[in-house]
Amino acid sequence: MSDTAEKTYPPSDAMAAGAHVNADAYTRMYDASISDPDGFWREQGARVDWIKPFSTVKDVDFTLGNVHINWYADGELNVSANCIDRHLATRGDQTAIIWEPDSPEDGALHITYNDLHANTCKMANILRDMGVGKGDRVIIYMPMIPEAAYAMLACARIGAIHSIVFAGFSPDALAARVNGSEAKVVITADQAPRGGRNTALKTNADQALLHCKDTVKCLVVKRTGAQTTWVDGRDYDYNALAAEASATCEPEVMNAEDPLFILYTSGSTGMPKGVVHTTGGYLVYAAMTHEITFDYHDGDIYWCTADVGWVTGHSYIVYGPLANGATTLMFEGVPTYPDASRFWQVCEKHKVNQFYTAPTALRALMGKGRDFVKGADLSSLKVLGTVGEPINPEAWKWYNEVIGGGRCPIVDTWWQTETGGHLMTPLPGAHAMKPGAAMKPFFGVKPVVLEPTSAEVLQGDPVEGVLCIADSWPGQMRTIWGDHERFEKTYFSDYPGYYFTGDGCKRDEGGDYWITGRVDDVINVSGHRMGTAEVESALVAHGKVAEAAVVGYPHDIKGQGIYCYVTLMGGEEPSEELRVELRNWVRTEIGPIASPDLIQWAPGLPKTRSGKIMRRILRKIAEDDFGALGDTSTLAEPAVVDDLIENRMNRS
Ligand code: WTA
Repeated sequence: MSDTAEKTYPPSDAMAAGAHVNADAYTRMYDASISDPDGFWREQGARVDWIKPFSTVKDVDFTLGNVHINWYADGELNVSANCIDRHLATRGDQTAIIWEPDSPEDGALHITYNDLHANTCKMANILRDMGVGKGDRVIIYMPMIPEAAYAMLACARIGAIHSIVFAGFSPDALAARVNGSEAKVVITADQAPRGGRNTALKTNADQALLHCKDTVKCLVVKRTGAQTTWVDGRDYDYNALAAEASATCEPEVMNAEDPLFILYTSGSTGMPKGVVHTTGGYLVYAAMTHEITFDYHDGDIYWCTADVGWVTGHSYIVYGPLANGATTLMFEGVPTYPDASRFWQVCEKHKVNQFYTAPTALRALMGKGRDFVKGADLSSLKVLGTVGEPINPEAWKWYNEVIGGGRCPIVDTWWQTETGGHLMTPLPGAHAMKPGAAMKPFFGVKPVVLEPTSAEVLQGDPVEGVLCIADSWPGQMRTIWGDHERFEKTYFSDYPGYYFTGDGCKRDEGGDYWITGRVDDVINVSGHRMGTAEVESALVAHGKVAEAAVVGYPHDIKGQGIYCYVTLMGGEEPSEELRVELRNWVRTEIGPIASPDLIQWAPGLPKTRSGKIMRRILRKIAEDDFGALGDTSTLAEPAVVDDLIENRMNRS
């Protein structure tokens, strides 16, 4: 059956009538954004307050060797002033952040825009006193607590560049990011409670800092009050300092193209790269997509379940919502604690209107059964969203019926750390949704589907190939921190003239887009992006491992699981204990999120005569798809494949 023959889900009349953008408006605005990008984005630039208005809008070149991306380049503004100060006159007493802690027994906090202002200013003054100034880097390694948002906004206020490291990363991974960004300060907390367990963040930071310059300082926020070691002169007590700090702090005047943050993300080769986002274009794009994709209206309660350690938390917990004067919910916990009803209990408790989560969470909750949903009143929900990976139609339908009661459009938002905000998504009042389809480009986004090897642009519908974007949008990343050449090579060299997304895609008979997954060596584990190369280098760093190859394989809950083929050093014997040891090793090298799901012993790996590992074959074996191995005649030693298949079948 063709995709378009499936049932589609048009917006209700009421939704279409009340939405910021209905079908006609979408077409009109999209056409305008493509025919006159300068005019379109000049108008959208008014979404934010400028200290000095911009005169130029777009200055972009995707030509290899000369790639540069500038938006609103001569404008000046401050992101924290846009997310806080400009709302104070009209909504100072409105809740900016609802904080829901890990345990439902601890009460939620309601932080008003006035509170947010005072707390952000205090944190900004503390950072300034610690010697942080414009352009300096600050690492944030925090639980999902309001202080994480204060820290981000405080950096933005004084012009420092933050780089958040997800609290699930190990001390080694943290140290690599502190050193890579040459950060002056690490902001952390004593502990991070999640799902009833406490992660010792400060202890991790202590370990990481052993591998960093001794000038790096550490600002420690109290979360649980647990005892931590304390290094005088290096460690600063946030709570003690905040009690004394001034609650006003003049925002720094920033150029539109000054960096706002660096966020490390995995690629297909080498170590994670520091994606750089800047100030003006990013904020315009985050604000606009937040308002339009979720059809956010003044007074709505909006909840994105991501962590601020990922880009979703940057754009859609903090910057987009707060720029729009929204009430944004920050959740410290996990969907299954104390039990699998938690998300829905929180929706009821805070009367959430827009709910945004990852397919992996939905699949996990779906597996627990409907009883966990039944007890919750979900009538406040208006729009549902997903992000991070393709959503399978079964999970989509469950989300639609069981959570949304068939009333709530589902925005399946496709985007990336690199893109700053949504690039493709259905809009709630405009598009007839198809379960699993990212549907339509956002305004100003020009997707093209290319034939992977010839790089020919595939015309007409339906087509399938690799997904590139033909022109810039304001939220696009500007460079890789400290390595512009790598930026050009990664994104602009395979398909000259285009931004290459790394994703495959099909466009159906109706002209709607479906993301088919990564075409490179990046895998998507529970919505978290992971470079197979990173896991491989962690494995080979173990003394007993000679060689390793890592691929993704289909996993019911996680979307993809981490499958490792490991060749041991001569003389080492495979054993269950060694499997456990290697799994723990990877957890300490990278973090629990990189924990291998399966380790298969591989006496040899399939390689070409030039020594290149043929991952295509490894992927097929991991998928149990032995009939589709393709041509193995170019292998140096074709027999290794038979061994691998045999081991796979014996699960050894
Ligand atoms: C995948 C997360 C299908 C995709 C915001 C992309 C998706 C990678 C979707 C980026 C979606 C994200 N449908 N696939 N709605 N959203 N992806 O950088 O492969 O953590 O390239 O950004 O996630 O992951 P990242």
